[in-house]
Amino acid sequence: MEQSLVLVKPDGVQRGLIGEVISRLERRGLRLVAAKFSQVSQELAETHYAIHQGKPFYEGLIKYITSAPVMAMVWEGPNAVAAIRQTMGATRPTEAAPGSLRHDFALEVGRNLTHASDTVENGGKEVALWFKPQELVSWGRDADKWIFEK
Ligand code: RTP
Ligand code: MG
Repeated sequence: MEQSLVLVKPDGVQRGLIGEVISRLERRGLRLVAAKFSQVSQELAETHYAIHQGKPFYEGLIKYITSAPVMAMVWEGPNAVAAIRQTMGATRPTEAAPGSLRHDFALEVGRNLTHASDTVENGGKEVALWFKPQELVSWGRDADKWIFEK
């Protein structure tokens, strides 16, 4: 089953939008696998955003993600990576599709509420970076057969 790391970033937490993000992912049919509310260390932030090192927005991005607690989660489902990114909307809120989280709740790329893994491969890497294997819960829902085709 495809898995994605999802973060409600500090702006989402401060604005009381953790529930909104969870609610939209649940409503979509995705299944929660793990969750923890935590203050991101400088070291974790730098590892998580290593790919953006050297870019003009890098310093601000590290400052943003470490500025207040985040809600870190793992969600799974068929096509989870694409589905979750669609639910989040495009990186730049003014380019995000109407109805997406970033369209509905954000204005600026540097305050875009959430993070979601961009590929299945990165999903696996990010889940392993943020969570210990024993923190991932393998479970089934009675409704799974009405949401997952197989
Ligand atoms: P994310 O990783 O947070 O899910 O977002 P993403 O894939 O849509 O965007 P990505 O290119 O990975 O960028 C990571 C985060 O860096 C900030 N950013 N700022 N000022 C800028 O031009 C700029 N570009 C990116 C955003 O917070 C973005 O989510
Ligand atoms: Mg990204």
